[in-house]
Amino acid sequence: MRIGLLTGGGDAPGLNGIIESVSRCLLAAGHQVVGSFDGFEGVFNGNFRDIRKEDLVGLHGAAGTFLGTSNRSRIEGREKEFIAGIGRMEIQGLIAAGGDGTFSALSNLGVSVPIIGVPKTIDNDLHGTDITFGFDTACAVVADAADSLRSTADAHRRIMIVEAMGRTAGWIALGGGLASYADVILVPERPFNRKALLNFLRGKQAEGRRGLVMVVSESAKAEGEDAEIAFTVKESFQQERFGGIAQKLSRWIEAEIQWESRAVVLGHLQRSRSPTTTDRFLTAAVGIEAARMAMEGDWNKAVVYKQGTVQRAPLSVIQAGARTIPSDHRWVKMCEALGIFI
Ligand code: F6P
Repeated sequence: MRIGLLTGGGDAPGLNGIIESVSRCLLAAGHQVVGSFDGFEGVFNGNFRDIRKEDLVGLHGAAGTFLGTSNRSRIEGREKEFIAGIGRMEIQGLIAAGGDGTFSALSNLGVSVPIIGVPKTIDNDLHGTDITFGFDTACAVVADAADSLRSTADAHRRIMIVEAMGRTAGWIALGGGLASYADVILVPERPFNRKALLNFLRGKQAEGRRGLVMVVSESAKAEGEDAEIAFTVKESFQQERFGGIAQKLSRWIEAEIQWESRAVVLGHLQRSRSPTTTDRFLTAAVGIEAARMAMEGDWNKAVVYKQGTVQRAPLSVIQAGARTIPSDHRWVKMCEALGIFI
């Protein structure tokens, strides 16, 4: 068989692990793997080629994606062109690692292009799967940054505010913030009360704390307020780009309680690191299953990770909008037990 492979949406640590694990399995079984470069773009413009064994050596540990990606490329309105491109690739089916944008676009093509979906996002906000690869690495970046910034916070008697990615879900801020025992974690699912936050900070001042570390999600917001949208990307499936809350909070806190504060935006550093071992195991397991599904002809499904095992699920389960943090999530309870303001 000839199987297509592409990575779509924003890059995420572990994409190269998927490319390596899927390709190693398929090549070892005597099949061919055709990689499309830059997500859907390679299908449209003929930028695809066979993946060779030598392309794969050590690939899993590298950040980014060997095949390139795009979160601006759309199939909508260009369906015929896309199907023609798939025809030129001479493949029997396509394994696509991506987010809800990638799968919605591909599912709309119906059975004309058989697909296997590999859910991917650092945001960890896809339904139908307990965790997505890239998330653990993103949390590690946040935790490392928050741990380091504690020294500057204490040295300067400052509140250091770390802004984490995550779009409309606060998983990265929660995971990274909890891993670093941040003093305050703000997530969009729990709009914060301005008065309560100031009281909490004043309490820490009274305790004689020199510095504090806050981890805030890029779309965190106060009660009754909207998230900060920095700009929009029209061609993108999800157009808003959030950002600016850390700086706003920093200026506001300084003015309100005269505790010096600085904001640090981690941005794409959360996506551009070599994957953690957790993400490597996950991508190996998911990639092996995706390759098996292709070999068995079990198309039009997603490979998900539930209750510690890799499973097959209908593609529709991962297209159900953003999966946000439930109010009774165990990590929220852990924050509360540790005295973290959340
Ligand atoms: O979905 C992944 C993500 O990194 C979000 O956390 C973030 O809001 C967005 O992508 C940033 O997109 P871009 O790469 O277009 O700046």
